[in-house]
Amino acid sequence: MDSSGLMGRKSVDDILESGEGEQQLSKSLGALSITAMGIGAIIGAGIFVLTGTAAAQYAGPGIMLSFVLGGIACAFVGLCYSEMAALIPVAGSSYTYTYATLGEFFAWLIGWDLILEYAMGAATVAVGWSGYVTSLLKDVGIVIPARFAHAPGTPIEGGTALFNLPAVVIVALITILLMRGTKESARFNNIMVAVKLTVVVAFIALGWGHVDTAHWSPLIPPNDGTFGHYGYSGILRGAGVVFFAFIGFDAVSTAAQEARKPQKDMPIGILGSLAVCTILYVLVAAVLTGLVPYKDLNVPDPIAKGVDVIGIGWFALLIKLGAITGLTTVILVLLYGQSRIFFTMANDGLLPKLFSQVHPTYQTPYRSQALIGILVALVAALVPINILGEMVSIGTLAAFILVCGAVIYLRRTDRHMKRPFRVPAVPVVPILGILFCLLLMAGLPLDTWLRLVIWMAIGLVVYFFYGRRHSVLRRKERNAVTP
Ligand code: ALA
Repeated sequence: MDSSGLMGRKSVDDILESGEGEQQLSKSLGALSITAMGIGAIIGAGIFVLTGTAAAQYAGPGIMLSFVLGGIACAFVGLCYSEMAALIPVAGSSYTYTYATLGEFFAWLIGWDLILEYAMGAATVAVGWSGYVTSLLKDVGIVIPARFAHAPGTPIEGGTALFNLPAVVIVALITILLMRGTKESARFNNIMVAVKLTVVVAFIALGWGHVDTAHWSPLIPPNDGTFGHYGYSGILRGAGVVFFAFIGFDAVSTAAQEARKPQKDMPIGILGSLAVCTILYVLVAAVLTGLVPYKDLNVPDPIAKGVDVIGIGWFALLIKLGAITGLTTVILVLLYGQSRIFFTMANDGLLPKLFSQVHPTYQTPYRSQALIGILVALVAALVPINILGEMVSIGTLAAFILVCGAVIYLRRTDRHMKRPFRVPAVPVVPILGILFCLLLMAGLPLDTWLRLVIWMAIGLVVYFFYGRRHSVLRRKERNAVTP
């Protein structure tokens, strides 16, 4: 038995030879398509909702700087993702990378952690979707009572809300779609990307002329004595929150094996989509905080509030429609991604078989998708968007740190592997990635850290009571040792 087996680690060769990465995909994607894919996966609730919340509560107009900080962190991590994705081009994303590098235990931790990025991410975007749909329906005369459009306990006129019904509806609809195997075609994705981009660019273009620069002053409102409430610490906390807006670029890395020239196309695709989104985000943040005083932006549909100031009726409708379309695709990608990660984990024996059962006709992991849908709908119904968004950010940042670490580790242990894309200046770039992620995590509130710790502790219990006992790799190791 090799040493990697003793550590509960699959070697990269094992993973590739076992057939997990056996599908031969055509090498048809150029840098432009990869960039479009990235933008499609990235733009969502982060820019349409959290920009407003984060500006109002933490950073003020300085939220523009928060976006720059988030973009820089993601650029370093994006490079590391490109190397891992090109080296281990199989389903399961950072879960698989970690299995190959740090072994099963850490792989489990990251798989568990990724639930925050994917399932909780989907819930967050669903709540954002609800905000825009409620607002659009109101414009056409259909009023969803506030009691049924927010998380329980949210103050509304005459009392508090009960639960978020529209968020449940959208999760249910998309789950049914995914169970039946509806695939996002490249064409569909391109149309969605075009709609999202048009809406965002139109907001910047039409809003720019109405900006009142007095709203930008002071750019960084003075700290009110509490860490994270305005001032420089507010910029940092804002960056931790709006980091959510960048999530999705890691999905691009899964296209590594389909890139025509991975060495060139992957970094251009990942860094290109990040650069485009960072520029758009900073501009949207500038226009939004220039249109509306930042304190008034803590609403479910802040961009729509900005459009109201511009005062063009039809444009308000267009923006809301564009936001709803954009948010729908992000929910779809995240719910889909979650079921595929569970699929890989169940194949490794770390989760029950139910998660890898495929429907005979639809060819989808339908039971898993249904279960995920129910849980995500429950969370979306009951938890406010700011708590969700921060959880997703901290969980994803933790996963990104492991991916950066994995690049350094694998460069030592698997020197010989052919790397279609190599991160420049290793270990400097991965270390910068780790440090920037830690910085953003440090900005997030203590409550969010505590929730992360509790979540990971539950994960440990599940691992020791279930995953470890059912692990396929461990079973193989036991059989290899027994004569
Ligand atoms: N980046 C994605 C969004 O903002 C997750 O919705």
